[in-house]
Amino acid sequence: MQVLGVDLVEEIQALKKQHNAVILAHNYQVREIQEVADFVGDSLGLSIQAASTQADVIAFCGVHFMAETAKILNPSKRVIIPDLDAGCSLSDSCPAEALKAHLLAHAEKNYYVIAYINCSAGVKALSDVICTSGNAVKIVQATPKDRNILFVPDQNLGQWVIEQTGRPMDLWKGSCYVHMEFTKQSIERIQKEYPGSPVVAHPECPLAVRLLADEVCSTEKMLHYCRNHSAKSFVIVTESGMLHRLRRELPDRTFIPGPTEICACADCRFMKKNTLEKLRNALASIQPEITLPEPLRQRAELPIRRMLEQSA
Ligand code: 13P
Ligand code: SF4
Repeated sequence: MQVLGVDLVEEIQALKKQHNAVILAHNYQVREIQEVADFVGDSLGLSIQAASTQADVIAFCGVHFMAETAKILNPSKRVIIPDLDAGCSLSDSCPAEALKAHLLAHAEKNYYVIAYINCSAGVKALSDVICTSGNAVKIVQATPKDRNILFVPDQNLGQWVIEQTGRPMDLWKGSCYVHMEFTKQSIERIQKEYPGSPVVAHPECPLAVRLLADEVCSTEKMLHYCRNHSAKSFVIVTESGMLHRLRRELPDRTFIPGPTEICACADCRFMKKNTLEKLRNALASIQPEITLPEPLRQRAELPIRRMLEQSA
């Protein structure tokens, strides 16, 4: 009888060696994937890892735009993703054609476009600089003072950055369906249940939720915040995978998932498309592979490189 997951993990390790592959996993991946990965992190950390890896193959366990970013930074490497259907509602809320039309219609604004990394290569190619939730404040602060900023695609993150920097920006009206499921009422209820536990929320949450939080930050910064805080338990208002990362790295603390109106925690259906089996299959066949037309890749690389320089 096969012991759950053990043979699969051994197979994955062997395939990794055979192909000189590195496994990168986002904080929202299922626990088994996080445990087998070489690096687990937020979008910023994963981009930095992807930019510096010596591996020939990058097995990217996250959603499509993340694997695509790894490919943009590594044209000569093969980048695979366990499930090609792992998309992102936020990325989908800003199609490249719609952004292009918007920029044309508002040409008089001569926008400096700051795109949150949760967007397609087509949107990146239309942007001046990319940011993640981990460096958005720094990137906006570094923007030339005489330029009008258009921030795409997440209006909640954009609004939060305006609050942090005081810099006015025009916001694309996109959002993440997962973080939009948290409500003022659902978070107030959990706060009453765990009164001494700080609430830590992702900036993709709506304003009413962010206002209730003790800290608003990217997934990676959540780890640092909880590590450096004296509290023993925390309410974590983001996708449920983050709880695995926190429990693994800070085993002496208790992490309570932030609830939505209908669920005790929030799962991203796209992030959860990846499984250990699909990762094994992807490593065995080096499929599904991320590919991009070279002119598009080159244009999309410029704003990502600018981000990496500005966040160094
Ligand atoms: P981070 O940039 O914090 O990793 O978040 C990515 C994401 O998809 C949030 O929904
Ligand atoms: Fe996209 Fe939201 Fe899922 Fe993140 S949690 S990948 S923003 S749908």
